Amino acid sequence: MLTQAPKGTNDVLPDRVHIWQYLEDEIRKICKEYNYKEIRTPVFEHTELFERGVGDTTDVVEKEMYTFNDKGGRSITLRPEGTASASRSYIENGLFNTAQPSKLFYLIRCYRYEKNQAGRYREFNQFGAEVIGSQSPSIDAELMSLAMLLYERVGLKNLKLNINSIGCPKCRKEYNEKLKEFLMPNYDKLCDTCKTRFNKNPMRIIDCKSSVCKEIVKDAPVLLDCICDECHDHFEKVKSLLDGMGIKYYIDPYIVRGLDYYTKTVFEIIADNKNSNSTICGGGRYDGLVEQLGHKSTPASGFALGMERLILTMEEQGVPFPEDNKPDLFIASIGDNASLFAQSLVYNLRKDGVIAENDHLGRSVKAQMKYADKIGAKYTMVIGDSEIENGKISVKNMQNGETKEINLTKDEIAKVIKGE
Ligand code: HAM
Repeated sequence: MLTQAPKGTNDVLPDRVHIWQYLEDEIRKICKEYNYKEIRTPVFEHTELFERGVGDTTDVVEKEMYTFNDKGGRSITLRPEGTASASRSYIENGLFNTAQPSKLFYLIRCYRYEKNQAGRYREFNQFGAEVIGSQSPSIDAELMSLAMLLYERVGLKNLKLNINSIGCPKCRKEYNEKLKEFLMPNYDKLCDTCKTRFNKNPMRIIDCKSSVCKEIVKDAPVLLDCICDECHDHFEKVKSLLDGMGIKYYIDPYIVRGLDYYTKTVFEIIADNKNSNSTICGGGRYDGLVEQLGHKSTPASGFALGMERLILTMEEQGVPFPEDNKPDLFIASIGDNASLFAQSLVYNLRKDGVIAENDHLGRSVKAQMKYADKIGAKYTMVIGDSEIENGKISVKNMQNGETKEINLTKDEIAKVIKGE
């Protein structure tokens, strides 16, 4: 146990961290272009926030939260997602007094006690975008375009954008009655959780993971057929805006999403993955959440995508990752005097922006050169007493094997390395 990380967690090792940094850079770049500002909220919140926000009949709240009492006896939960926190922060910090709508994004770790499998972890990372303060269908379309463009930029193919409308509380009331009528004959066969959901929130049964419940809801009525005129118009506008941007989508009337705050537009982006979970992004409109948390009624919309699933999908599709940075220069040294000299030279080159490295294990020159090769240094040089005395050094280009004799000064070395 001592040297084993908890189930469902992952270490990102140094040889892979550049992949994450590359994707995070792409995310920051696209968010800048779309004018979304980063928001950073705490890893833990009061449990009540998620119970109220995400909904107490959802799997996330019922089964998956990491909840504990802190030393002051408060019930605390590690965030299972970012929307509730962003909305809480919007209210608490008066973001509604800033230019509206608030266009926010976050790169966060989330925690859900889920069954561990490829693409489903207990600690995972999300990139999320939230727009709070606009009910316009243009925001829904903008959010979907952002997610799709990001995937396109990093090289993913064959993605399916599935959209649906799950209406507003008004149309859902009527739908819930229809759904209950449909489910009633099979009530006894429903799982225990869904039996409770039957009266509290029957729509949640559509999203149940149990195979028996899945079979029961197979031909259930869909909300899209029951939505009111306002929700219908909103959905039509979302569709025409996507058409206008040339973004292909499919209507999937069975998307209900696993969290309770959704209203009107919902969407999921699906990858054709063989070995891992294929829902790589999910989101939608949540016009009731901010009010549910105690502020005045404020429409909002957003999405979140799983970073691990993004990387897994890139791997499954054979999308190449950019290479990690390699050191520009390795300076080998012979003897104590040269080693001192090398350390100071490396320091001064680094000050100039050269990625330089030297030996820290007192190795032989041969072993130092082997190490330089291992770390992929682009140039190498060997400093001994005579080089220091003569003020000349031979710089070797490790890619083509060429060597060049230059003055042993920081500026001349930097020039060669930078190809000036
Ligand atoms: P979600 O569908 O629960 O929505 O999660 C969004 C994405 O996070 C999923 O599509 C998946 O890529 C990733 N994800 C979820 N659970 C796991 C897990 N256990 N392991 C790895 N990846 C996972 C939300 O979280 C909403 N807050 C999205 C949203 C934002 N809706 C409106 N605004």
